[in-house]
This record gives sequence, C-alpha cells and structure tokens, in this order.
Amino acid sequence: MKITAINGSPKGKRGATYLMVEEFLKGAQAQGAETKHILLSNMNIHHCMGCFSCWVKTPGVCVFHDDRKKIDLSGSDIIIYATPVYVDNISGLLKNFMDRGVSSVFPTIEKDAQGEGIHPKRRTVRPKIMTMANCGYPGQTHFEVLKVLFRRIARNMETDLIGEIYRNQGPLLLRDDPQLEPIIAQYKLRLQTAGREIVNELSISEKTKRELEEELIPHDLYLQKHNEIFNQLASI
Ligand SMILES: Cc1cc2nc3c(=O)[nH]c(=O)nc-3n(C[C@H](O)[C@H](O)[C@H](O)COP(=O)(O)O)c2cc1C
Repeated sequence: MKITAINGSPKGKRGATYLMVEEFLKGAQAQGAETKHILLSNMNIHHCMGCFSCWVKTPGVCVFHDDRKKIDLSGSDIIIYATPVYVDNISGLLKNFMDRGVSSVFPTIEKDAQGEGIHPKRRTVRPKIMTMANCGYPGQTHFEVLKVLFRRIARNMETDLIGEIYRNQGPLLLRDDPQLEPIIAQYKLRLQTAGREIVNELSISEKTKRELEEELIPHDLYLQKHNEIFNQLASI
C-alpha cells in the first residue's frame, strides 16, 4: 500500500501538522506501507487563475509549469490532506494545491447517482482520501467546516473519505513542557495506532477515534497557558 500525505502547513517541519502526519505514517510503515510526506511549504505552486486553458486549449495541462507538476500522486492508494485550521478552513497552501487539480477533470458535467452535477475524471484510478488537521482553539467544533468540506471533496473526487483526525489545542504538541510530555507521548502512540489500522482495515476504529479526540488538557487550563504565553511575549 502506498500512502501520500500532502502537508499544507506553512510551518513545514516545525508545525504540529507535521508531527501528526509523521506519527501516523510511522504506524502505517510498521504495517508495510510505503509512505511519502510532501511539504507544500517547500514548494512554489501558483494559484489557479481560472483561465480554463487546461480544459480548452491544452486539455489536462495547466499554463503554470511549477512545482505542482513535481507532485506525482499516481500509484497512491491513500492521499492524506493535512492542514492547520486557518480561518475555520484549510490553509491557503492546501487550497491552492487542490484548486490546481481542476486540470485533472474533463469540462463536461454529468449527473451522479444522487442527480448532482459532477465532472468526469481524466484518471480512472481513485485513491481513497483522509484528512488530518489541528487547530489553535480548544474544542472540536472548530473542525465543523472541514468535516463538511472533506465529505464534499470526496464526493467530487468520486472516492471515499476513510479517516478524519482532528486535534484541537494543536500548539500543545509543540510545547517544550515536561508536564505535557506523557500526554503528548500517549497522543503520538494513538496516531501510530490509527496509521496501523488504516493499513490493515482501511478505517480507524471507534475506540482509536474516541481516544484521538480526548482533550489533551482541560480547556480552561489551555486558555490560561495560552494567554500567559502571549501576555509574556507582549510584555517583552
Ligand atoms: C492565519 C491563521 C488563521 C488561523 N485560524 C484559526 C481558526 O480559525 N481556528 C483555530 O482554532 N485556529 C486557528 N489558527 C491557529 C492554527 O490552527 C494553529 O496555530 C495550528 O496549531 C497551526 O498548525 P501548524 O503548526 O501545523 O502550522 C490560525 C492560525 C493562523 C496563522
């Protein structure tokens, strides 16, 4: 099995998104998966101009010959879209990447089984998709938009959304705080479990999902720690 993660955090290797993806992939690798972790922060990908040249003038080929072309997803069985929550949504880097995928569909529109419009795809292979995201607020409500969004994206791609991992209080994963160490170590193990389960079952068990969504620390304590840090920085 081949798993490719597309990481849309502008912080690249310094981000909480990176940590989450790496731990998940460790679990997947332990079950024999071949994995790739692509950092969009290292790439130069122009945003889609909406010119539709890729539909009309040069079918399937974008006018921009940039790093988007270096990202080869062919052969991937699972694609992970990984992102920090930015303004209740995916990051701009990930959105730009996804918008450029418009060249991979035909311009015509057909009806799907539910009677909704859908573009036929140039490729016949349909990798399954997953999402991994973290956000700065405490509470799972901050992933509501992403939950709807990725269901719609799976529909558009005519594939299955086989896993969703959403971590609130995400910046805690990067804190150098001895009190947090055992909590973060446990969370990493849970991510590895999810990675193993995806390879073996093509899904994440209810138990693992529940454990991955447990709060790291009480929300009020999180707010207190967060505000202390930023108040201190502001007073420097
Ligand atoms: C421009 C911007 C917008 C953000 N918007 C939200 C938001 O809407 N909700 C939220 O909970 N956190 C928000 N955050 C916080 C990030 O999601 C959080 O810092 C996350 O841990 C960053 O992940 P990373 O380290 O992988 O980049 C925002 C951060 C930035 C820089």
